[in-house]
Order: sequence, then structure tokens, then C-alpha cells
Amino acid sequence: MSYQDLIVEVHDKVALIRLNRPKALNALNDNMMNELGEALYKFDADPAIGCIILTGSEKAFAAGADIAAMVDYTYPDTHRDNYIGRNWEHILRVRKPVIGAVAGFALGGGCELAMMCDFLIAADSAKFGQPEIKVGVPPGAGGTQRLPRAVGKAKAMDMLLTARTIDAAEAERIGLVSRVVPADKLIEEVLAVGKQIASMSTSVAIQIKDAVNRSFETTLSQGVSYERQLFQSAFGTPSQKEGMKAFLEKRLPNFEGL
Ligand code: HXC
Repeated sequence: MSYQDLIVEVHDKVALIRLNRPKALNALNDNMMNELGEALYKFDADPAIGCIILTGSEKAFAAGADIAAMVDYTYPDTHRDNYIGRNWEHILRVRKPVIGAVAGFALGGGCELAMMCDFLIAADSAKFGQPEIKVGVPPGAGGTQRLPRAVGKAKAMDMLLTARTIDAAEAERIGLVSRVVPADKLIEEVLAVGKQIASMSTSVAIQIKDAVNRSFETTLSQGVSYERQLFQSAFGTPSQKEGMKAFLEKRLPNFEGL
């Protein structure tokens, strides 16, 4: 399938989705968000894919929601059309792991979209920020909710209220990204991480992602109880039989199709 605002590739069992509106630093518009949903759902349903990577260009993951497209919106328009709600959260419905690979600017809606990924690997050129206050609006795609959960209240309030941009080193230090790699190695490194994930059991990866995400929505005891049910039910799966037997037989496990 070809897209107007995305470039999509498959590398072994890893799907790479690249946001592609270079002239506007990947400013996120309706068409791009609709296409992103289509691509994500297609790969989530494809049994040959075990991990999805979302990236942008060397200069920008995404510099925010498209300001030119929204400047003349009125409140009745945004409410009636369910602006943002209608097509920005597809990524949250994807069951397979989604890694965000961020180079350059991840600002406003770009930072919010990145935070919807399961984890982020940043190029040393990455810059994160929530500068919405400078264009007269609060964040609208989870910035006030996911940023404090990711980095704590102090850093989140600082970034959201001052609109200051942080670099990759600070993003790693405060826990917004899991790793920082040289910019010219970003895709190579993230593909290697994606292939590592995709080489193991996709069913187990889906369970882990589900349980971790649940930890942000539930109490500790309910979360641990859910995890225990997943663990106990694992003994009825081929992943457990293959994984544990392979260890005892001193061979590599084969999780193909699992
Ligand atoms: C529309 C954008 C854009 C955006 C950049 N461009 N960001 N267009 N929406 N968010 C366009 C510019 O207008 C310009 O187009 C081209 O991309 C290159 O940008 P420059 O500003 O010339 O580049 P540079 O000087 O390198 O500065 C880069 C930048 C700056 C620091 C990232 O572009 C910038 O501040 N962008 C806006 C960042 C922002 O405020 N994001 C939050 C948006 S609000 P032309 O045609 O002039 O070449 C938001 C709300 C989210 O995201 C809430 C719900 C999701």
C-alpha cells in the first residue's frame, strides 16, 4: 500500500513507518493521522510482523500538530469534528510493541505522539518539548497526562509551563527515552532492537505490553493479580513449552508463529 504522508518499509519481521511531510517538519495533519492509523492496524493484524517502529526524518520526528491547518478552527468545529479524539489515538489500540525512533524535533503533538509509543530510542540530535503555550493552547493529545507519568511533576510542569525544549541527554536522564544513540545510527540501532523483540514470542510481548500499560490505570494489587493470571495461563501456551524446553536442551528457542 502506498501513502501520501508516510513511507512504509518492512525489514524481516519489523515494520518501519516513517512520517513524511519534510517541508513542514512532519507537522501532523488529518491525512497523516488517518494514514498512520491504517498502517498501524495493517501491521498489527499481519502475523509476519512482530514489532513496529515509528520514526520521522533526521530533522524532525514531528514539529507538532499542523498549525496552518488548525489556525482558523472554531470551537464548534473542534467539538463537532472531535478534533484530535477522532484520529490521534490509533497507536494506543495497537497490541504489538511500537518503538518510537526520534531524531530532531519532537514538539507539541509530536512529543505527545512519541509518548504514545511503548518506548522511545532517541538520536543524540533529538529535542523534546511541549511549546503549545507559546501558540496559545494547552496540549491536546495527552501531554499534560503522559509527560508527568513519564518524567514526574517537576520536569513536566517546567517543560509545559515554560515551553522549554530539552535535548536527548536530558530526555534520557529524566526517563523520557530509554536509550540515546548517534544520529547516523538511529534506524540501524532501532531496527536491531525491533528484530530482537520480533524474534521472541509475539503473544508474550503483547501480554507484557498490556500488563505494563495496565499498571498506569489500576491499583498495585489489581495489577499484580492480573500479571499472575497471565503468568499462570502461560503454562497452557506453546511459547512456554518451547522457551523452557529450549533452555534445558541448551538450544536457541524457535518462537516462529508464536
Ligand atoms: C505547521 C510547521 C510546524 C507546525 C514547522 N512548520 N512546524 N507548520 N505546523 N507545527 C513549518 C514552518 O512553518 C516552515 O514552513 C517549515 O515547517 C520549516 O520550519 P522553520 O520554522 O522554518 O524551521 P526552523 O527555523 O528550523 O525551526 C524549527 C522549529 C519551528 C523550532 C521546530 O518550526 C517551530 O517552532 N515549529 C512550531 C513548533 C510548535 O509550536 N509545535 C506545537 C504546535 S501546537 P515554511 O512554509 O515557512 O517553510 C500542537 C498542538 C498539539 O502541536 C495538541 C494536539 C495534538
